[in-house]
Amino acid sequence: MQKIEVKIPANPQSSYAITVGDDFLDSIIPQIKTLLPNRELFIITDANVVKAGLLKKLTAGVQLPCYVITPAGEQSKHIGTITKIIEEMETNALGRDCAVVALGGGTVGDMAGFAAAIYKRGVPVIQIPTTTVAQADSAIGGKTGVDSSISKNAYGAFYHPAAVFVDVATLKSLDEKQFNCGLVESIKHALIADSDYFDYLQKNVDALCARQVKPLEYIAMKNCQIKVAVVEEDPYEKNKRRILNYGHTIGHAIESASEYEILHGQAVAIGIIAANIIEQKLGLNAKERLAQLKQLFAKLNISLRIPAKIKKEQILDILSRDKKAIGKWPRFILLEKTGKVLRDGEQYAYNVKREIVEETIDIILKEKY
Ligand code: GLY
Repeated sequence: MQKIEVKIPANPQSSYAITVGDDFLDSIIPQIKTLLPNRELFIITDANVVKAGLLKKLTAGVQLPCYVITPAGEQSKHIGTITKIIEEMETNALGRDCAVVALGGGTVGDMAGFAAAIYKRGVPVIQIPTTTVAQADSAIGGKTGVDSSISKNAYGAFYHPAAVFVDVATLKSLDEKQFNCGLVESIKHALIADSDYFDYLQKNVDALCARQVKPLEYIAMKNCQIKVAVVEEDPYEKNKRRILNYGHTIGHAIESASEYEILHGQAVAIGIIAANIIEQKLGLNAKERLAQLKQLFAKLNISLRIPAKIKKEQILDILSRDKKAIGKWPRFILLEKTGKVLRDGEQYAYNVKREIVEETIDIILKEKY
């Protein structure tokens, strides 16, 4: 097993370790008990994870209170579920001396982290991500929250975990679409930070899709290293951390507009193509990369088609409400080249004229690129 230490500079107490390995789920509870002695553990997971047998494997031989989010997925990621989780924790008479264990994908991790952040003013959370999205991105870096009826992650808190355990064997439980779409977050990391990693992903996409252990462990480590370096520098997203939102501005808008019919990774893939089109319109050298991205997404079988019910005005409306908008207009993360984000002076987020964004949305709606 390999370990990465995450240090949050503003608060030395909140440093934590990420452990990466293959097939060690059944050794995690004893490790948590060593890390957090005398804390009662409360597990939050979802119906898919239970069905895949991962909860049973994690808790082998121990009886722990648990909340199973049902149905699994973004449709349960709202404040009503948080109320139920908190009440279940109270029903189990858990005090401030408990800790939450999140076992699952991004929605489980975000909700469990948020519940932990607010339960009795905060108890530790351990993240055990079981999807390609969560292992690459959402379990690391302390973003927690739930959606409102209007936008994604409208309620939320930065709340760093006490530890993260990445077991690549858990990825075997995913269906092909979920597995492949989640790899888009790895592609995003390569694009913003490491062109050699982008080459690696292009060369090893088949081995990854075959879920070979070595490439899965390799990308798990790479993703953690890239994300940790950014989060350590800017844990509360004042500036540099925005680079992790590459492809997410238009991606999130499409994901919301589709009412979560489109998976997060699929929406981000479309958002990455949109960012690339904007880069080309601004005269940046992005055309060769567009061909590479199209090939990679095709190998992953990721459809870039936007459902016909989604209209340009709807995407623009959601963009105007973006969390990071200034004057009701979002700023975009763009690439100067593969592995390097474009900077506007000290800023990493770029102000793109509305007409360029509108033209880009027309192009992606028609898939004319
Ligand atoms: N998912 C982007 C971030 O954690 O900042």
